[in-house]
Amino acid sequence: MEDKIKHIAQEIENSQIQNKSDLEEFRLKYLSRKGILNAMFEEFKQCDSNQKKIVGKSLNELKNKIEELYDIKNSELNNEEDNGDNGIDTTLPVYNFQPGSLHPLKLVEDKLVDIFYSLGFDLSQGPEIEDDWHNFGALNFAEDHPARDMQDTFFINQHVLRTHTSSVQVREMQKRKPPMRLIMPGRVYRNEAVSSRSNCFFHQIEGIYIDEKVTFADLKQTLYYFVQQFFGQGTKVRFRSSYFPFTEPSAEMDIWVGCDTPEQLRLTKGTGWLEVLGCGMIHPNVLVSNGIDPSQFSGFAFGIGMDRLTMLKYSINDIRDLFTNDVRLLSQFKGV
Ligand code: DAH
Repeated sequence: MEDKIKHIAQEIENSQIQNKSDLEEFRLKYLSRKGILNAMFEEFKQCDSNQKKIVGKSLNELKNKIEELYDIKNSELNNEEDNGDNGIDTTLPVYNFQPGSLHPLKLVEDKLVDIFYSLGFDLSQGPEIEDDWHNFGALNFAEDHPARDMQDTFFINQHVLRTHTSSVQVREMQKRKPPMRLIMPGRVYRNEAVSSRSNCFFHQIEGIYIDEKVTFADLKQTLYYFVQQFFGQGTKVRFRSSYFPFTEPSAEMDIWVGCDTPEQLRLTKGTGWLEVLGCGMIHPNVLVSNGIDPSQFSGFAFGIGMDRLTMLKYSINDIRDLFTNDVRLLSQFKGV
């Protein structure tokens, strides 16, 4: 029996277990009820007590060896399977699906739309390529009024790239009857020298409210509410009188940024105040041009610069950073 045990031990040593079916073959051959190991133990029972002492030890060693080998191979093969037995190496790092994020300008637009929705404003949009009448004429810009020069733009034959979203006011007044409350976000273009503060295209959100007895007080309160919602309660604002051909009276609204840091000083040109929008009571000429009777209706309008708000809200110092698509900037807005 000793020899047999030695022989089997040798066989075990040389066994080649490459895959699961080899392993199963091994188990059936040595470890199953009808396998070699059981047969050996049966044979062992027949030995006399002297022999038992010697053979017992080596038979147990053989048993341990077989079981150990089986366990090792079993766990090796299981691991291999987990790691992709069929040519797929699942230990490789997974392909990194980078979830995108909304552009900061879009985040700001969404926030503005939410705020004005809550005041009952509807949303509308118009074309970026406009004719002279929608961009200037219907907004009370006389043919050779110098105000046109303030909004130099890109001309394509008889058309212009719109210089402001006020052109959408015109389209909406043509389409609807008062009362109307609308906001109109979009991209606008100007022939500007590009710098950290101005670009040849930027974004505005236009607003109008036309009804009976709309006053400047409604305008101020609406804009005041928007600023508190957007920048937080207690944000200070001021109105300065201004000029736009399509509003009378006209104003610009500044918000208080502060003048403690060099950054704030640069942004506000040393004043602490930053202009964020133009506004006013819609000029009667504009109402008439668009078929609305100024003796019955009045309205206010405003145009907010969205790029400025975005730069302010997220401390972006250069307007051009909004358009270079640098992922180092964009990825900071994940989950915002
Ligand atoms: N369209 C003006 C601009 O781009 C901004 C503006 C001023 C819009 C007054 C308005 C307004 O609706 O009432 O500079």
